[in-house]
Amino acid sequence: MENNSLITQGIHYVGAQDRRTHLFEGLWTLPYGVSYNSYLIVDEKIALVDSVEVGFFANSLRQIKRIIGDRPIDYLIINHMEPDHSSSIALLKQYYPDMIVVGNAKTFGMIEGFYGVEGKQEVVKTGSQLCIGSRTLEFYLTPMLHWPETMMTYDTFTKTLFSGDAFGCFGALNGGIVDHQMKIDHYLEEAVRYYSNIVAKYGAQVQRALKLLADIDIQYICTLHGPVWHEQIPFMADLYNKLSLGKAEEGVVVLYGSMYGNTEEMAEELARELACNGVKNIKMHNVSSASPSHMLADVYRYNGLIIGSPTYNMQLYPEVEAMVSRLKHRGLKNRHFGFFGSFSWAGAAVKHLTTFAEGMKVSVVGDPIEMKQSMTEANRKEVARLALEMAKAIKNPF
Ligand code: FEO
Repeated sequence: MENNSLITQGIHYVGAQDRRTHLFEGLWTLPYGVSYNSYLIVDEKIALVDSVEVGFFANSLRQIKRIIGDRPIDYLIINHMEPDHSSSIALLKQYYPDMIVVGNAKTFGMIEGFYGVEGKQEVVKTGSQLCIGSRTLEFYLTPMLHWPETMMTYDTFTKTLFSGDAFGCFGALNGGIVDHQMKIDHYLEEAVRYYSNIVAKYGAQVQRALKLLADIDIQYICTLHGPVWHEQIPFMADLYNKLSLGKAEEGVVVLYGSMYGNTEEMAEELARELACNGVKNIKMHNVSSASPSHMLADVYRYNGLIIGSPTYNMQLYPEVEAMVSRLKHRGLKNRHFGFFGSFSWAGAAVKHLTTFAEGMKVSVVGDPIEMKQSMTEANRKEVARLALEMAKAIKNPF
């Protein structure tokens, strides 16, 4: 089909699908791949909005040339400088040396720092406009979504927002580009995982961006990862609003570490008691085998969290400690939080989890449980009590 890259009037998809990389940022698992989205706006002038990870440059360039032939790219708009989107800049400059790079005051130092590239520039700020023919592009600075130089570009003609990382999701595109061209449920799930892994630390900045964009008529959101949103714009706006405010569904995530199965037995008993108290959404993760990426997604999806850890060298069990650190990095808030620990001869896990809870904006549920060596009948009663109190607590939204 001619023009199978066309999203809407004059806007083409020229991005790439990465099903080779196992860990995004070297951290987050990619079982379904990831897309690096790039968009070509064809008008009297031609503007490329962001580019692809450099390993996919040749493919993206072929898509561009298929659409515009030998016409030059007039503008390269850089909404975000993270190398998954910017590492093709040096090559693009070789193919299109007269191209004007459009960015904000923070963009160009990064281009020089990462790639040693200089050249024609146009510096924009919130409210700046760029006319490229029948359409005018407007710019909105959205710092820390997800880097300080991040901005968004809005095409007033087609009412399309190029949103950078915001509203993105994991998962390579499987043929379809716009949300109505595909079965979307899987991508909506992956959007929560993406938010929890990449954006979660910047909830306040998400709120600022949502307010900045509130009065703009948006028909398409062209993100840097995942489908172009059209039908799902209200869903995605609501999702980002809730996630950035720390709102979550009713449910409990149980994260635990265990060396020989004793701490795991307590975690299993807790889950059983939660179920007996009517909790239907229960997600259990053994931190030694579960992917941090999926654990974070569940923590951001549900409003109850229970962490259990053995004592290890008078510290938390290392994999629990790593998970606790990830939650601290993101400033997790608005969770009903319970915890338990175990030890063989001297306990420290409960003390460290208490310190964690005190440093976070969470509401502690019940009393922490401390187990020596293996679970006793007294422990079972404590577990039943904690489960009952958690089941009641998660009925209360923050
Ligand atoms: Fe997809 Fe923050 O880069």
